[in-house]
Amino acid sequence: MKLQSDFLVIGSGIAGLSFALKVAKFGKVCVLTKNSITDTATVYAQGGIAAVIKKTDTYEKHIADTLIAGAELCDEEVVRMVVKEAPAQIKELISWGVEFDKTDDGKFDLAKEGGHSEHRILHHKDNTGYEIQRSLTQEVLNHPNIRVMDEYFAIEVITQHHLGKIVKRSNDNIECYGVYALNKKNNTIDTFLAKTTLIATGGTGNLYQTTTNPEVATGDGIAMVYRAKGTIENMEFVQFHPTSLYNPGETPSFLISEAVRGFGAILRKINGEKFMYKYDERGSLAPRDIVARAIDNELKISGEDHVFLDCTHLDSTELLARFPNISQKCKSLGIDITKDMIPVVPAAHYLCGGIKVDKNGRSSIKNLYAAGETSSTGMHGANRLASNSLLEAVVYADRAAKDAISLIDKIEFNTSVPDWNDEGTTHNEEMILITQNLKEVQQIMSNYVGIVRSDIRLKRAFDRLEIIYNETEELFKKSKLFVRLCELRNLINVGYLVIKMAQKRKESIGLHYTINYPPKKKEA
Ligand code: FAD
Ligand code: SIN
Repeated sequence: MKLQSDFLVIGSGIAGLSFALKVAKFGKVCVLTKNSITDTATVYAQGGIAAVIKKTDTYEKHIADTLIAGAELCDEEVVRMVVKEAPAQIKELISWGVEFDKTDDGKFDLAKEGGHSEHRILHHKDNTGYEIQRSLTQEVLNHPNIRVMDEYFAIEVITQHHLGKIVKRSNDNIECYGVYALNKKNNTIDTFLAKTTLIATGGTGNLYQTTTNPEVATGDGIAMVYRAKGTIENMEFVQFHPTSLYNPGETPSFLISEAVRGFGAILRKINGEKFMYKYDERGSLAPRDIVARAIDNELKISGEDHVFLDCTHLDSTELLARFPNISQKCKSLGIDITKDMIPVVPAAHYLCGGIKVDKNGRSSIKNLYAAGETSSTGMHGANRLASNSLLEAVVYADRAAKDAISLIDKIEFNTSVPDWNDEGTTHNEEMILITQNLKEVQQIMSNYVGIVRSDIRLKRAFDRLEIIYNETEELFKKSKLFVRLCELRNLINVGYLVIKMAQKRKESIGLHYTINYPPKKKEA
């Protein structure tokens, strides 16, 4: 089957759906998503979305906090732009039906999280993402110009390569004509032609054994664009959230929001001792790279499996009202957060790098945009500030939408694109070839390319990943395609990029910490 749409969107999280709503007045929109429309990371977001709302807060303070967290690797112009465009985007979210909590006097109830110098996090209790996903999904499903095609797995970005031409990474004229996608319901591969395509496929958390990300977060968009010879950057900056609930065997790991620490909760060792002031004067509310590394270090020293997050000194009525989902989840495991400390460990949470885009969300490939966690805009630098991700996603969806709208009448469909050719391939009989390789990739990444790295660990990771890469490519060429195989291939591609970029960076900065190049001591 061949389908045409003016605007093709891959992914149904905050980036994909908000883009779809913005462009829908100007042409036909098709949204592909690999499971159901609500199977996203967006739905899991707890803490909220950062914006300057309070009179005593200023853009300059939000900009400074973002730049400090990003360890001087942010693009300051981008940070200024995103922070200043935030209030307008919040208004639009509200116009689509998103409800943010307010206090009794009708003002927004703004929370504080690690690295923020002010209360500026708009939230809906402790399930902000669910509220955003609910509203956007409803708007999108009711829009006559938007067609959502669920259970469709995008496999490859279509470029001149598929017309038989040689495409090199150094070419500056690569064009995107749409994507090939696997219809999971009948296992056929369909061709989706588009004037413009937005990649909004989210993160890569499943590269690691323990992650807060849903199963769909397998870096598909980044891998597709890399294979299409697009530019990818900053992949070494993988953010580990310090406080996921320690509950071995549960995937994804349940997040204990940073907002809980913003509310006054304190990290303690198993013996009850506070430890964060040893590492940073901001204590438990230091930026998350510092907190995650501190916990990792304490666990290595003590040999324990987790530390504790202590809320027992906080007002219990307020605590339960503010964090109903977290308290409910803990209660289901026998933990009463008003009386018991919560066992927590770091887990892979967010990728700061990805598909390099300009200020209009354009990738290095013509007519191909990226927004949300899959993109690298320059906003996060070496470490993302809490609650800046949802914000960056809506601002860039808006910018990409405006740019795509301005070009849409000048772009033609490329109808000479051939159908996907899988002649000579056969059905894979042995799932173990996939599941074992996936486990190995996750082990390699967790043990050698995690919170603390070194040259030798990175080299080991690279050498081992290469073996798995060769095995998987061989299988890919021979097999009729299926989702688990494609996801494994994508994770291997993304793992390779993380390792290569980590090897190139000969310093410890932000989320990339290596024992071979320890951070330079600040001069007294
Ligand atoms: P997602 O919401 O992940 O959506 C990606 C979409 O792409 C999904 O629909 C997926 O199915 C689809 N997809 C992927 N691959 C394919 C493919 N090959 N074919 C078709 N479809 C595909 N950030 C904040 O700012 N504040 C928070 O409070 C916050 N809390 C968080 C809590 C948790 C537990 C997690 C996991 C993340 C949190 N984040 C938070 C980060 C933030 O939620 C994400 O970065 C953001 O939601 C990503 O949005 P997105 O639209 O880019 O991608
Ligand atoms: C959280 O609620 O701690 C997650 C916030 C984020 O990832 O920005």
